[in-house]
Amino acid sequence: MTSGSPTNPPLPSSGREDEVLQSLRAVIDPELGDTIVDLGMVRSIAVSEGDVVVDVALTIAACPLRTQIEKDVRGQVEALEWVRSLEIRIAAMDADERAAVMARARWKAREDAPDTAVPANARILAIASGKGGVGKSSVTVNLAVALAQRGLTIGILDADIWGFSVPRLLGMEGDVEARQGKMVPLEKPVGSGLVRVLSMGFLAGEEQAIMWRGLVLNRAVQQFLQDAHWGDIDYLLIDLPPGTGDVQMGLARMLPRTEMLVVTTPPVAAQKVAARAADMARKGYLRVAGVIENMSDFTCEHGSTYALFGTGGGQRLARSLGVPLIGSIPLHADLAAAGDSGLPVAAGSGELAGIFAEVARVVAEEVAPLVQAQGCTARLIERVEAAVASGEAGGSSSG
Ligand SMILES: Nc1ncnc2c1ncn2[C@@H]1O[C@H](COP(=O)(O)OP(=O)(O)O)[C@@H](O)[C@H]1O
Ligand SMILES: [Mg+2]
Repeated sequence: MTSGSPTNPPLPSSGREDEVLQSLRAVIDPELGDTIVDLGMVRSIAVSEGDVVVDVALTIAACPLRTQIEKDVRGQVEALEWVRSLEIRIAAMDADERAAVMARARWKAREDAPDTAVPANARILAIASGKGGVGKSSVTVNLAVALAQRGLTIGILDADIWGFSVPRLLGMEGDVEARQGKMVPLEKPVGSGLVRVLSMGFLAGEEQAIMWRGLVLNRAVQQFLQDAHWGDIDYLLIDLPPGTGDVQMGLARMLPRTEMLVVTTPPVAAQKVAARAADMARKGYLRVAGVIENMSDFTCEHGSTYALFGTGGGQRLARSLGVPLIGSIPLHADLAAAGDSGLPVAAGSGELAGIFAEVARVVAEEVAPLVQAQGCTARLIERVEAAVASGEAGGSSSG
């Protein structure tokens, strides 16, 4: 007495239900690398005036990603203007539904994802922006430092192959060495934590690095992911090149569980550009985890605050994407100066350090917390894979 295939999304009967369904296509299960709609997790949608009820079926009721999926559903549905209230009802899938989800996830995994050297329980956050110069690299290194100060080990992959700046921002130099044919990231202790970095800037001098660029852009990022000893990292932060190009799409293919943090500056035009980065992420089935506004306002030495580029831009972008605004970093001379000294402001004790500590707290506790012992679905896939493998090995088939 089983229901039909859960991978057929429910057919909405009204325009508003369809709008809700479409909005849920932006909710990604990062472990399965697919939208909850295509995974058949959305069982039904009911709309009465502005009141919405969504039934979501998780692979397992105690799924560690449950809170996150609930939050993401809320973010997306409440971003629809007409929504007045939202009730999310969570249930667990039955065995048949689970099998169908796993079949789809496995199919996608086989299509998409090669093995990488990034540990399965590390959370991967790519820092994206629509254009250069918005402070993406500054945000990456300071977030890494602030997370490391929580006692964590943070990898930074500097994927801005042409315009790498992470080594300079962290005051690190040296050559990457190989161990057993794999690159060993350079390391720097930060508080009770650790930052590990791979960047084009560490590869045998500027000249050779320049030769690499253009030729093997995507290959370089691929090697940083596959032929590297990342070791036991908790988060991998990826400083993406600006824009919405090959590297972004390559990443979606190589690391489907990558989640995006979009950096924007306050002006309206900047948000439109930043929104493109988010669109691109979603086309690649990557979860957009939140927005960080940079250069938000400026406080002069007399204590007056000026919103040089306008205000509320980060909040507006976050709302339109249905994701949280993680923080706003003011325009501050110390941040620019820190770039030259190689001492990130987050490692200091000033106001900016406090702001980045709070951004790191929101990331680690709310937006992308570490999932203990891997999420339910990843474990399930492993079990399904094992079962399939042993079935194949046994040569038995029920047709
Ligand atoms: N909040 C800020 N206040 C002042 N200067 C900043 C701030 N954020 C970034 N900068 C400066 O702006 C420039 C561009 O920042 P960067 O992090 O390299 O941007 P991106 O990686 O997006 O190109 C750098 O010189 C940097 O020091
Ligand atoms: Mg940069």
